[in-house]
Amino acid sequence: MAKYRIAWLAGDGVGRDVSDAAWIVLERLNVDAEYIQGDIGWEFWRTEGEALPKRTLDMMKTTDCAFFGAITSKGVDKADKELVPELQGKGYSYRSPIVRMRQLLDLYICLRPCKAYPGNPLNYKEGIDLVVFRENTEGLYVGVEYAHVPEEFYAVKGMEKIPRSAAISLRSISPEGSERIVRAAFEFASKHNRKRVTAVHKANVIRQTDAVFMEAARKVAAEYPGIQFDDANIDAMGMWLLKNPLNYDVIVTTNLFGDIISDLCAQMVGGLGFGCSGNIGKDYAVFEPTHGSAPKYAGQYKVNPIATILAAKMMLDWLGEADKAAQLEQSVADVIAEGRVRTYDMGGDSSTLDMARAIAEKL
Ligand code: IPM
Ligand code: MG
Repeated sequence: MAKYRIAWLAGDGVGRDVSDAAWIVLERLNVDAEYIQGDIGWEFWRTEGEALPKRTLDMMKTTDCAFFGAITSKGVDKADKELVPELQGKGYSYRSPIVRMRQLLDLYICLRPCKAYPGNPLNYKEGIDLVVFRENTEGLYVGVEYAHVPEEFYAVKGMEKIPRSAAISLRSISPEGSERIVRAAFEFASKHNRKRVTAVHKANVIRQTDAVFMEAARKVAAEYPGIQFDDANIDAMGMWLLKNPLNYDVIVTTNLFGDIISDLCAQMVGGLGFGCSGNIGKDYAVFEPTHGSAPKYAGQYKVNPIATILAAKMMLDWLGEADKAAQLEQSVADVIAEGRVRTYDMGGDSSTLDMARAIAEKL
């Protein structure tokens, strides 16, 4: 029996291309794992009204962790609804499988390292080495939304200012949810000898929810006197990150702000082809490239697989295979530094699989 059981969710679009690339390096590393393919993605939404079928979730629960490629998500138009007649009139709308996985499996940490590997022609500045801790289960992603203001809301003070035709999305932030993500950021900082943790919010405007987040952040920060702690508003943080990216180290924030700031950080170290994520809970995790399924490139083996290969590296670290993880990261760094094999985003014409093979050869 293999040491690890890993749910393999390639998805659709380029999710399959980049998963094939990750497969090449994992095979080469001789990871003692069994991979179990799972159904996920747009075609399952179209045919059965469920992009993340229950059988896939059940299968995931029998595994140690999951590896996820990418899936296509878009608003559901009329034609799509007609393909799923039992959903008509039920107000059912497409819900992102990755957001559902994070919530259903309580994967509260979204860990997004953003490192400028030397020699990457897409680096905004050499030396950037940031890690974003994004809260992954609450905030504006709780999915409590109203197309119109419910009548009973008008009993709440202040609501009379809001037109009845307005749509409403609720942002919920709990002390427990905030504490555990901030603690994860500090634990990471202390384990990896990181000097500074910055909490990002908009407490001057979103007063209630960000007060809860910042109170939790300050409380946890006090337990780690050896690590410098500061905070910034999300808007200013965008500006400071572009101005002085080398000043930042570990960033911790709520769900939507983390979504935004992690794209900005990914772009500074090469963009979509380099952004990797770990969605991590107490005893389960899902690793994925941060990018989407880029349907127009699907099956062309053109996109950069480095993000996905770095997600595999994160998975190995999480499984406790630190040596293999380090070897894999070194191979990625070497291939980038040599500059011989480059995908189109890096100005070259190597394919997805050329890149994976070049990395595998170094292992
Ligand atoms: C991400 C993505 C997702 C998110 C989308 C695909 C729902 O942007 O992982 O950052 O918003 O979390
Ligand atoms: Mg995002």
